[in-house]
Amino acid sequence: MSLPEPRPGGAALITGASSGIGEAIARRLTADGYDTILIARDRERLDRVAAELTGSETKATPVTCDLTDHLARAAMIDEIRESGIEVDLLVNCAGFATGGPFIEADPERELDQVRLLVEAPVALTSAFLPGMVSRRSGAVLNVASSAGLEVVPYSAGYSGAKHHARAFSEAIHYEVKRHGVAVTALCPGPVETELWANAGDHPLEKAIPKPLWITADRCAEAGLSGLARNRAVVVPTAALKVGYGSMKFMPDGLKATVNERVLRPEGA
Ligand SMILES: NC(=O)c1ccc[n+]([C@@H]2O[C@H](COP(=O)([O-])OP(=O)(O)OC[C@H]3O[C@@H](n4cnc5c(N)ncnc54)[C@H](OP(=O)(O)O)[C@@H]3O)[C@@H](O)[C@H]2O)c1
Repeated sequence: MSLPEPRPGGAALITGASSGIGEAIARRLTADGYDTILIARDRERLDRVAAELTGSETKATPVTCDLTDHLARAAMIDEIRESGIEVDLLVNCAGFATGGPFIEADPERELDQVRLLVEAPVALTSAFLPGMVSRRSGAVLNVASSAGLEVVPYSAGYSGAKHHARAFSEAIHYEVKRHGVAVTALCPGPVETELWANAGDHPLEKAIPKPLWITADRCAEAGLSGLARNRAVVVPTAALKVGYGSMKFMPDGLKATVNERVLRPEGA
């Protein structure tokens, strides 16, 4: 299976396209000839990216939307439908990460994280996957995380949401592959983006050695090439794959206990 061909009237919709992995994915899809719909909250940044991605061959349309707000999300989906553009490729990428002891977490930020990482991808997939299936052509890339593959204490809300993203994506992958639609969960380890500057003192940032970090561009490349081959799950780096492979036979409880000790913040 390959990605749907770019075509007049079709577009790739990318959430979180103003920065980091989403922006890198939008740049790669533009280079491949796709028109794009770029979603994030910060109008100025979105406009700057859209201006760079709009040329003689491709058009990038910036759409501001706070994806944690279900009314704004529904209005954005209606607006795209009414425009007549068909979403051939959906990339659910917008996100942020909470971390630290859950008992100290800001309850509203934890709920916003669920709205952004769980609710929004479900809403967008519900909106655009049926059209792809009826056209027998389309692709969905869900940016999950390696935190969605393991039990990660002190990242309970984030890793819980990423488990949902990964498991939801994998299930849909098997449902729609016979209909000619690709669905991939991208599960990167740490990527050099602004996510970490917005995540405060995050235990995962401290615990993972710098040589294991990759750039947003490398992450985007791995995700899109996995999607083009319709991989159910993509782990972008060999080091991570080897790491997970070697821990495969370790009992889950033991792994979680080790993770808790390694990630426990000082004084917790
Ligand atoms: N960086 C990593 O190490 C890493 C590893 C694994 C997985 N991931 C995942 O990769 C995805 C992208 O993260 P990134 O690392 O590229 O971070 P980033 O550079 O901070 O980008 C986050 C993007 O999400 C948008 N966003 C945040 N809150 C939003 C909201 N409420 N509504 C709409 N858009 C919103 C941001 O734009 P606005 O602020 O303008 O809205 C921005 O475009 C996330 O899902 C993250 O969990 C990242």
